[in-house]
Amino acid sequence: MSAPVLTIDGPSGAGKGTVSRLLARKLGWHYLDSGSIYRALAIAVQEQAVDLENIQELVRTASTMALEFDCGDALVVRLDNQDITAQLGLESTGYSASIVAALPEIRLVLLQKQRDFLKMPGLVADGRDMGTVVFPETPYKVFLTASNAKRAERRYKQLKEKGIDANLSSLAKEIEERDRRDRERITAPLSMASGALFIDSSDMTIDAVINQVLNHYFPA
Ligand code: C5P
Repeated sequence: MSAPVLTIDGPSGAGKGTVSRLLARKLGWHYLDSGSIYRALAIAVQEQAVDLENIQELVRTASTMALEFDCGDALVVRLDNQDITAQLGLESTGYSASIVAALPEIRLVLLQKQRDFLKMPGLVADGRDMGTVVFPETPYKVFLTASNAKRAERRYKQLKEKGIDANLSSLAKEIEERDRRDRERITAPLSMASGALFIDSSDMTIDAVINQVLNHYFPA
């Protein structure tokens, strides 16, 4: 029997990361932040100065990058033995990630890397295509969204808390453009998986979102 998966998809700033991490802790399951894989690739591509037009080189970079997730008290991510945690959270990294993530060849290479996270006793997987492409068979799917204004506001707060300088109106524009690219790409666009539980978190607390998911799929 394979391990169960709970997928949480949605646009940036909807609260997927926080909700997924807490759900994984409550369920005692593993956690996959699939966005960090695309973000790490964007960093690798930048560091190795790979030409974005050179698909072969991009695929080589995606297949050979060695990623390590150290889930202690605070998550530490290493790319080819180098700590990239701070760079990973930058909005500019998310923006570059969405450019490489639009390439079907890249998505294919990263598919197995993501599926390899599935281990007993279970996995909470957060991203854009977890319920539609990576784990389509699972019965536990959530689509988490929020209004554009709320998402920009939350991302702004997150960046500020990390001590990263940000401007709310340009952040809102960047997020909108990134979301449009994620929704409109041909391969694995951001969309709600059929049968997914739809949650608009605009006026909800994190606890309320978590309780709604648990009551729906894992009632006590
Ligand atoms: O979720 P996060 O903001 O870290 O994702 C960064 C970018 O990575 C997204 O804007 C999207 O383009 C890409 N991504 C994706 N598929 C996923 C997760 C992230 O295309 N499953």
